[in-house]
Amino acid sequence: MAVLSRPGRPIGVFDSGVGGLTVFKALKQRLPRESLTYFGDTANLPYGPKSAEAVRRYSLAIGRFLVKRDVKLLVVACNTASAVALDALREALPVPVVGVIEPGAKAAVHATRTGSVGVIGTEATVSSRAYELALKSLRPGLKIKSTACPVFVPIVEEGWWDGGIAAAVAKKYLEPLGKDRLDTLILGCTHYPLLKKVIGRQMGPKIELVDSAEETAREVESLLSADQLLSTSKKPAYSFFASDAPDRFKRLAKRLLGLTVGKVDIRRFD
Ligand code: DGL
Repeated sequence: MAVLSRPGRPIGVFDSGVGGLTVFKALKQRLPRESLTYFGDTANLPYGPKSAEAVRRYSLAIGRFLVKRDVKLLVVACNTASAVALDALREALPVPVVGVIEPGAKAAVHATRTGSVGVIGTEATVSSRAYELALKSLRPGLKIKSTACPVFVPIVEEGWWDGGIAAAVAKKYLEPLGKDRLDTLILGCTHYPLLKKVIGRQMGPKIELVDSAEETAREVESLLSADQLLSTSKKPAYSFFASDAPDRFKRLAKRLLGLTVGKVDIRRFD
């Protein structure tokens, strides 16, 4: 069982790159007194097309590194890593590990009225069926339709999230889902919340788009609060690590999320 102590320790957050800053932002907003240590595995991005074994290996190396940095809890902001590496991380690490799949599934179950839920994510996330399992364990009778949308990630990183290219790709991926009478769609990838407008336009106004970031932050808050480990610091610290190309990380953080990231330290595991 994980042992928690000292509320002033940072929360660790990791992703395959900058996309997980969507979760970082939600945590910062909901828990403004918490220090956060973020790791973007930019050397190994994207995780989406990789094997589960490789993603587990990367995730464990990062998890162990963040535990050495004294994090009190680890948030796996990456959907792909949450889908394939959560159990391995929970087994290997001495701190609680929160993924984004269960919170996202919970939010979708609250949102759906008809019980027809769609899931979009990377190839690895969709083929793991992790969202399906999480949704069905919450409500067994749900009808679930999943589809991988791998091209969305580079589109977002190019900054093309609101133009004709994004709209054409959204049509290609999402039009078939339109036939399934969904009322809720889970944006099961760190980058997809940035395409909310385009995805919303394609799916139509009746479809609720669920983004795991806020629900994940809520889950972290309730976990820390239950263990009396919410920080009371008035000066939280934010630190950033990347496994490659820190300047690109900084540029994308600014362009994608309007976040000014100061220093980004390089940390490689090979
Ligand atoms: N962070 C990944 C996820 O949420 C998307 C980018 C990637 O494929 O690494 O699934």
